[in-house]
Amino acid sequence: MKSFAFQNAWRRGCGMLCAIARRHQALPRTTKKRLAGALFLALLCLAFIQSGHLTTEEKIDALIAQMTIEEKVGQLNLVGREQSVSPDNARAGRLGGIMNYVDPKEVRAFQEAAAQSRLKIPLLVALDAVHGFSTDFPFPLSQASSWNPSLIEQSSHWTAREAAAVGINWTFAPMVDLSRDPRWGRVLEGAGEDPYLGSVIAAARTRGYQAGGVAATVKHFVGYGAVEAGREYNAVWIPPAELHDMYLPPFKAAIDAGSMTLMPAFITLDGVPATAHRGLLTDLLRGKWGFDGVVVSDFLSIHELQQHGIAKDDADAAREALLAGVDMDMMARVYIDHLPDEVRAGRVPMPVLDEAVRHVLRLKFRLGLFDKPMVDPTAVAAQLQTDGALQASHAMARESLILLKNDGVLPLSKAVKHVAVIGALNGMDEGVYWTDPAGFPRRPIEALDQALKRLAPQLDVTFAPGVKNTCGTEWGDRDAALRAAREADVIVAYLGEDCKFLDEAASRTNLNLPGVQGDLLRALKATGKPVVLVLATGRPLVLTDAVEESDALIQTFYTGTEGRIAIAETLLGLVNPSGKLTMSMPRSEGQIPVYYNHLPTGRPELVGKRYQSVYIDAPNDPLFPFGFGLSYNHFVMSDVRVMDAQVPRDGTLDARVTIRNDSDVAGQDVVQLYTHQLVASRSRPVRELKAFTKVLLQPHESREVTLQVKATSLGFHDDKGCYRVEPGPFKLYVGDSSLADLAADFELVDDGKEQSAECTGF
Ligand code: BGC
Repeated sequence: MKSFAFQNAWRRGCGMLCAIARRHQALPRTTKKRLAGALFLALLCLAFIQSGHLTTEEKIDALIAQMTIEEKVGQLNLVGREQSVSPDNARAGRLGGIMNYVDPKEVRAFQEAAAQSRLKIPLLVALDAVHGFSTDFPFPLSQASSWNPSLIEQSSHWTAREAAAVGINWTFAPMVDLSRDPRWGRVLEGAGEDPYLGSVIAAARTRGYQAGGVAATVKHFVGYGAVEAGREYNAVWIPPAELHDMYLPPFKAAIDAGSMTLMPAFITLDGVPATAHRGLLTDLLRGKWGFDGVVVSDFLSIHELQQHGIAKDDADAAREALLAGVDMDMMARVYIDHLPDEVRAGRVPMPVLDEAVRHVLRLKFRLGLFDKPMVDPTAVAAQLQTDGALQASHAMARESLILLKNDGVLPLSKAVKHVAVIGALNGMDEGVYWTDPAGFPRRPIEALDQALKRLAPQLDVTFAPGVKNTCGTEWGDRDAALRAAREADVIVAYLGEDCKFLDEAASRTNLNLPGVQGDLLRALKATGKPVVLVLATGRPLVLTDAVEESDALIQTFYTGTEGRIAIAETLLGLVNPSGKLTMSMPRSEGQIPVYYNHLPTGRPELVGKRYQSVYIDAPNDPLFPFGFGLSYNHFVMSDVRVMDAQVPRDGTLDARVTIRNDSDVAGQDVVQLYTHQLVASRSRPVRELKAFTKVLLQPHESREVTLQVKATSLGFHDDKGCYRVEPGPFKLYVGDSSLADLAADFELVDDGKEQSAECTGF
């Protein structure tokens, strides 16, 4: 940093010297010499002084002042490995960043080229390190199921450290899109359906990534999870109050936690493409929230403004995106190709271009890239697959497993001698999706049957896939699988969604077990042997039949390098499951969207009555509710009370509850507190999660737990985006799912102070 500041002060000084010399050409030679000498010394001093004192913004000013239009636009250009771009582009000052490069030697070649460019501005090196790098971590939806923000933060931290080892300094994560619709494949990348839990996790992941040495990108701003009919890239319609109460909070939380960058979504929000949404990207994000980082477009999305029908060509698209507030162009190359002409023609004002460049340079300074612009390929190996990363991945996997049903078969008893593991997911190498670094060696994953054998050598464990591939679309050796099942004391059916069934561009209308896996499960059940169903899916499936056809059910949403070991430990009782759902699981596709924090209806469900808000062919409630998950314990909660039933608007609700572990094993439970405002100026959700804590209790231990909620978090937005906290009667519910049935009353009281509405509308 010092040498950079020194160079700039030096450059400026020399410029001034030349100007003075020009102005005083008429002076005698010796006087000129002396004057020049004195000035030279003075400037040298100034340069030294300044080198320690220039602020980042001054350094940015100095750089921008020297840049050509092409160099400025170059900083906004983000290209990918897929485009086979040569490092010469970096040397020519035409690249702000590269993405999807994971070979440190390739990264280094680009960095060296950037160091040879006229202004020596270092490069951003980006990657979607969504759930790990060389050590794989559970997918984000799995991580969220732990309800353990500290483990989640650790997972992002280690992910970042490993990615940073090969030179990556920027990741396109966390995705914080609230999602209530499991037809959408990307629910796997988020934290589920709740804005409060989503906000806590968004902040934890942001902190983790950035402490690990890479800039985070909170994405996809905003509403992507609400694509119409769950269809990928489809339009989104969200009423303003709902947008502010439900969809925006996780973004705000990530930004408050310091997220250095943000990515707008592919979608149109209420008719306006997010990539050209000035209201969102400038008025709200920068104006109201004070964000001063980088806004990077999604993949090609500036170009796609034409398909959205708001730009007639790429030049139009480039201009609209930049004027709306998108700083960097990911992959579309429309900025580099068109912005110079747009600026020269006066259609894009130079200060707008400069501001975008400023954001990018600020990010580079914040990341310390001017001080340390190069990766050292020889130092990489020691930083990957470390014990620390492995332990963090293991701890995360253990807490991410959700036990949805247990008729008593789990944990496997000593009487079980022979286990048959059936299903192709047993040995599948997780991590074959786009979210993984192309071509980077992953730490190998132990298969479930192998992990069981290793952890319980006395068990006889057989494995037969039954289906041909991990998609489960075709039968493999069905007879061998059924034979193995019949010979076992317990069947572990390891089934799920894989291949093209999950993540981006994988919307589904039928949320069954893909292919023949449903038939396989039925056939296994028909053997009469107890069936433990272990699911690895990218979303909540419709499990109405699967629940009937299994004696125990463990839901996982992909568990990473240590996942199968954690599953084996759980089956054997070495680990006590403690995950809880963060998305409600539907009984059928027809119920979607089904989520816990819905509004009340004027005609709630009353048994036996007609003209109520019900289906005539299915119950209203989900198969498994938000917040639900079993353990090997029996927990009892009692004695809920509020310390003061009158809570002023600037006060804190203080609730206490006693939780008792009525079993002989230690275990964890998540104590959840929900509120409902009974009377307000708008209809309020039937329940809203406002606090939670995960507690570990020893056998038969009993403990009083305190949960606190700031009264300021009990408000809501109106259609103009104004936030108000209204006094009135509330109910609170405490328990270990969103069905929590311990209730208490409290009242938010008017403190007589005038409340100025905080408006974040745009
Ligand atoms: C996704 C983004 C991702 C980008 C770069 C896009 O298809 O929507 O979330 O960051 O690709 O890989």
